[in-house]
Amino acid sequence: MYAFQLWREYKLSIAEIYALFPTAIHIFVDDRFCILDIASSQEIIQKASRMWGVIKIIEIEKNMSDISELIIQNAQEHEWKFRYGLSIFGSWNLKKILMDQKRSLKSAWISGRFINKNFENLSSAQIIGEDLVTRLSDFTIIEADKKTYVWKTMWVQDIDAYSKRDYGKTRDMLVGMLPPKLAQIMINISGWSKIYDPFCWLWTILIESILMQNVEVYGSDISPENTEKTKKNINYARKSFDNSIKTADASVLDATWISSSPYLKKADSIVTEGYLGQAFLPHSVTLWKITEEKKQLLEMYKKFFIWLQKANFRKPLVISFPFWEIQGKYYYFSEIYDIIKQYGKTLPLLPRMDDIKHTKSWSLLYKRPGQVVGREIFKIKIR
Ligand SMILES: C[S@@+](CC[C@H](N)C(=O)[O-])C[C@H]1O[C@@H](n2cnc3c(N)ncnc32)[C@H](O)[C@@H]1O
Repeated sequence: MYAFQLWREYKLSIAEIYALFPTAIHIFVDDRFCILDIASSQEIIQKASRMWGVIKIIEIEKNMSDISELIIQNAQEHEWKFRYGLSIFGSWNLKKILMDQKRSLKSAWISGRFINKNFENLSSAQIIGEDLVTRLSDFTIIEADKKTYVWKTMWVQDIDAYSKRDYGKTRDMLVGMLPPKLAQIMINISGWSKIYDPFCWLWTILIESILMQNVEVYGSDISPENTEKTKKNINYARKSFDNSIKTADASVLDATWISSSPYLKKADSIVTEGYLGQAFLPHSVTLWKITEEKKQLLEMYKKFFIWLQKANFRKPLVISFPFWEIQGKYYYFSEIYDIIKQYGKTLPLLPRMDDIKHTKSWSLLYKRPGQVVGREIFKIKIR
C-alpha cells in the first residue's frame, strides 16, 4: 500500500493519480491523502517524475505499527549517526513522540537524532536537503479511517528543481497565466503524450509537455505575433531543458476553423486552456460585463465544437473554461454545458468515491484566492 500526500487542490491531485494509475485499488482518500494498493513500486517511481499534484509518496511498513520499533530497527541498519525525520497527520503529539524516541535510541545505545525543527512536520526541502529518501529515514504517521498507519517516504517532489527551471523568467509573467502545475495535471489527465494546444500563446501547456518528456507538441493561435513568440519559446525550451522532443510545431489558426488544423491528425489529444475572455479586475468586474463576455465566448466555442465534430476528432479533449468570482460568489460559464452535451460527452476525472465528487457538470475547479477568474476543467470526448 502507498499513501500519496495531496496538493492544496486535492481533487486535481486525485484526478492526476487516477489518470496515471487507473487500475489501483482505493483504500482511503480525503483532502490530505490518497491511500492505494498498487502492485509495483517501480511503476510508482517511474511515474512520479511526471506527477505534479503529489507532494510525497509513502510506502507502508506492513508489519510495524509501533513507530519506536520501526525507527530503532532502521537506526540499527545505519553504520554511522542516524538522522531521521518524523511527520504526523492526526491527533498524535509530535513533540512527545520525538522526545520518547530520543530516549529509546539513547537507551538502545544508538547514536541518532531527529531533524525536525521546532517539533514541526518536515517540509519537502528539509527531506531533500538531508537526503532522507535515499537513507530511508523519513517517517510519517497517518490517521485515516480510524486506523493508524506508519509509513516510510519513498519519493518527494523536488520543489527546488521545480523553481530552478522557472522558465517564467524568460517571458512576461502575465497575471492570470495558467499555473504550470495545473498545465501538467491537465496533460496527465489527457492520458496521452502527443499534445495539441489550439489556443497556445503563453505556451504553458506546450512547454510543460516538453518538460514531461513528451515526444510531440503542436500549437496554434489566432495571433500571428503570439504564434511567432510561441515558436521561439519552444526552441528555447528544446535547447535549455532535458527533453525527448522529436517534433514541435506551431502555426497561426483561428480555432473556430479547427477542422483545417493539420495537427488534429498528428496529435493524440487536445489539451488547452482556451481563451478566457477579458481579464477583469476585482474592483471593476460586474455581472453585466461577465454576461456580455460569455456571449462572445459562447459564439467562439460553439464553432470550435461544431468543427471538431465535423473533423471527426474523437481523441480526448482536456479543456479549461473560465468562471468568475464577484464579491465571494462564483458565476459559471453554464451556457457552455449545453454545447458540451450537444457535441460531446464528459468523461469522469475522479474515480467513484463516496465523499469526494466532481461538480454537478462533471468538472473540477481551480481558483487562486484574490483572482477574479477561475478555471473549470473538463475531459470531453466529441461524439
Ligand atoms: C489564455 S491564452 C491560452 C493559454 C495557453 N493555452 C497556455 O498554455 O499558456 C488564450 C489565447 O487564445 C488566443 N485566441 C483567442 N481567440 C482565439 C481563436 N478564435 N482561435 C485561436 N486562438 C485564439 C489568444 O490569442 C490567446 O493567445
